[in-house]
Amino acid sequence: MKINILTLFPEMFAPLRTSMLGRAEEQGLLEFNIVDIREFSLNKHRKADDYPFGGGQGLVMMAQPAFDALKSVGAEGHRTIFMSPKGRLLDKDLALDLAGEEEITIFCGPYEGLDQRVIDEWKMEEISIGDYVLTGGELAAMVLIDTAARLIPGVLASEESALEESIYSGLLEYPQYTQPRSYEGLDVPEVLLSGNHKEIYLWRYEQALRITKERRPDLFDAYLKSHEKLTKDEARVLEKITICSKIEI
Ligand code: ADE
Repeated sequence: MKINILTLFPEMFAPLRTSMLGRAEEQGLLEFNIVDIREFSLNKHRKADDYPFGGGQGLVMMAQPAFDALKSVGAEGHRTIFMSPKGRLLDKDLALDLAGEEEITIFCGPYEGLDQRVIDEWKMEEISIGDYVLTGGELAAMVLIDTAARLIPGVLASEESALEESIYSGLLEYPQYTQPRSYEGLDVPEVLLSGNHKEIYLWRYEQALRITKERRPDLFDAYLKSHEKLTKDEARVLEKITICSKIEI
């Protein structure tokens, strides 16, 4: 997947090239094309923004450098996203949908400010990462890229599919433990040391149900309505959790 990132702050994207995403780029699973919008300014001071028509505070990114930057990456040929708190809220379905694209362009601008003609003319998809306002779209773009990229086959280090985990199964993740078995009197739950795979699986399923019911009743209700066919043992665990009024984790 090729991701074109258009920004006034290309240096903010250095972290993308570390860790798992950096490795994925080295392996050719991902390609980041980070473009400095200022390079396209025709102004001798490389100015890319100006005061808003009609007055008001803040600066607005001008159409010309934005148009030329978009043209330079061939943005007319693929999905083009503008990070904005006015957009559709990012969730797992949107991440999954984007992960299936060959190429996308993400445009980052200061929050108050991209000339509307750019958004309209390039039919940009506006995406928000939450109901709060950031100073610019760069951090939001990184969140979007991270969550979509890890869904591309081969990007995650583990053989396990990202789709089997946590939110993607409709439940929050069960707790994990590692060495040592006992740390300062704090013991790992016995069942995890038992070697009994079925018991371990059911214990984890129960924990995931409990945590989801307590912390995200909305997800829990959705799970109750839409879960796949359960085995007898799973159904027993689910019934126990469903009728449980007091949750202990
Ligand atoms: N730009 C500023 N705030 C944002 C948000 N919450 N989501 C996406 N882009 C933004």
